[in-house]
Amino acid sequence: MSAMVPMDPPHAVTTTALRAMKSAQRPIVMITAYDTPSARLVEEAGVDVILVGDSLGMTVLGFDSTLPVTVDDMVRHTAAVTRATKRALVVADMPFMSFQVSEEDALRAAGRLVVEGGAAAIKLEGGAHVAPTVHRLVQAGIPVMAHVGLTPQSVHQLGGYKVQAKEADAAATLIDDCLALEEAGAFAIVLECIPAELATLVSQQLAVPAIGIGAGEGCDGQVQVLHDLIGLGGEFLPHHAKRYADTGALVREAVTAYADDVRGHAFPTEEQTTHMDAGTLEAVRSARARLRRVGGSGTEA
Ligand code: KIV
Repeated sequence: MSAMVPMDPPHAVTTTALRAMKSAQRPIVMITAYDTPSARLVEEAGVDVILVGDSLGMTVLGFDSTLPVTVDDMVRHTAAVTRATKRALVVADMPFMSFQVSEEDALRAAGRLVVEGGAAAIKLEGGAHVAPTVHRLVQAGIPVMAHVGLTPQSVHQLGGYKVQAKEADAAATLIDDCLALEEAGAFAIVLECIPAELATLVSQQLAVPAIGIGAGEGCDGQVQVLHDLIGLGGEFLPHHAKRYADTGALVREAVTAYADDVRGHAFPTEEQTTHMDAGTLEAVRSARARLRRVGGSGTEA
């Protein structure tokens, strides 16, 4: 009997499909995208989940943290992504201060990401203290992905972008956080920058998928920032990322060639040019000449 090769389902990925993938030990592939062309490309590559991460504050808006990203930014970019997506599950990040003040704020912001942005789910950062908010959103029919470990929205409190939960106490708290978030109804949990051994333990304890970034291979899936993988993130490459392509070099090369062509009168050529027929051109010329003769008085001089 030949071995069964698992096939990509042709239909849209759902939160329940992700849970089935965990049970089948089939790794979940998740990546960020922030606009229509990048969403189209990652969808064509067959990823399971597209995250419209608030990392867009750094990758495409030029801020040095995710903190300035607004709900309006997230709605705009999420809509751009969902317009290009048919199969992958699109998850939109809840930006800083969109859910920390009140559950009502959280509901309003998440509702906008789903209704205006077209997201199928939202993601929010935090441990057990955000579990009541997760519960409220799930009750309202909005699937929630949780995010623990290195939570970039707390960068000032954490004192930088560092590996978290390396000590026994912090590791125990992280496990409790994950269990509380699962209990509150989160359909998956992102584990960012924690020791691999802890991430494996958490993944084994959870019924819902644990998706790692800088958390080793023992998670149920992996998430990465697209710009890191394709060389659009500048010189810096996080320890947990791998550069699969140098798109930055390709784009620089292409634009340099374009600039050289323009300066050397080699672009545009006949191929990129549209002409007007001689009769029309003559009519335009005579009309211009007539206008020049008429001058300011409106009568022919
Ligand atoms: O905003 C983001 O891209 C994220 C991933 C790093 C998980 O939250």
